Amino acid sequence: MSLFDGSLIDLNSISSQTIDTLFDLASSLKKQSRPPQHHGQTVAFLFFEPSTRTRMSFETAAARAGLTALVFDGGQKTSLEKGETVEDSILNIAAMGPEYLVIRCGDEINLRTISQLVSAPIVNAGWGVQGHPTQALLDVFTLREKWESLKGRRLLIVGDVRHSRVAHSHMELAGKLEMEIAVCCPQEFRSEKSSVKHFSEISEALHWCDAVMALRVQFERHSEGSSLDRESYSQKFGLNRRNLSALRPGCFVMHPGPINHGLEMDSEVIHQRNSLVLSQVSHGVFLREALFRLARGETW
Ligand code: CP
Repeated sequence: MSLFDGSLIDLNSISSQTIDTLFDLASSLKKQSRPPQHHGQTVAFLFFEPSTRTRMSFETAAARAGLTALVFDGGQKTSLEKGETVEDSILNIAAMGPEYLVIRCGDEINLRTISQLVSAPIVNAGWGVQGHPTQALLDVFTLREKWESLKGRRLLIVGDVRHSRVAHSHMELAGKLEMEIAVCCPQEFRSEKSSVKHFSEISEALHWCDAVMALRVQFERHSEGSSLDRESYSQKFGLNRRNLSALRPGCFVMHPGPINHGLEMDSEVIHQRNSLVLSQVSHGVFLREALFRLARGETW
């Protein structure tokens, strides 16, 4: 029996052992590609919110694994325009028999409810503010490549924690891997789901960590419209040259993307030697390919 059935709605239900196996397989796929294995099988990508990295990365991973991608770009020229609901769209595509349903959607959809109604495993590709498990996994996979062990390592997440599915997935993941995690953000961006250490001073927070990840300010999820003072936010919480001078030597800088340049991260930081921003993107392909392959019983 496979360690993993392919379903990944959150990170609470995946074991540390499965995560280790997934990381080992992703590492192996990075070192040496394997022949595509899953010809004739399909994976449906249902994206009801915008995406560049996640969607292209999953599509690349599917191609490498030999799965045919069926893409439902939940916008124009679909029956959503005729009033079909998102849930009906998902159920109808599931009825076509794909091996997996990879879904990006807002909080108005409940992926746990959908998973009770379909037989294919559901992979959460970014669900409202609930979670983005493969992003958290690929971020930590990227750090694991740099550090011999994750145990006791400290990851700082800076920014709009309240509206970040990435931050919420990291909070689920850190405990499983015995990493420490902390957040640094203004009061209005604190999340009620978070019980992790909180810093309000960026210099103190940056001195504490081994790696820091900035989060995008998610203006589209600020329900009352944003009254954010960009200049002040960037000075207090932005990853810019001045603030990053508090980082200890050897620390890494990350961002899951997309980036608000000059707000949560300065453009020059992305290309610094200690930046992992584009490595995160590259690693997303191997991690997602490993996810598909592990669910079919492959290991390293
Ligand atoms: N990191 C991430 O989820 O990026 P996209 O929104 O472009 O997929």
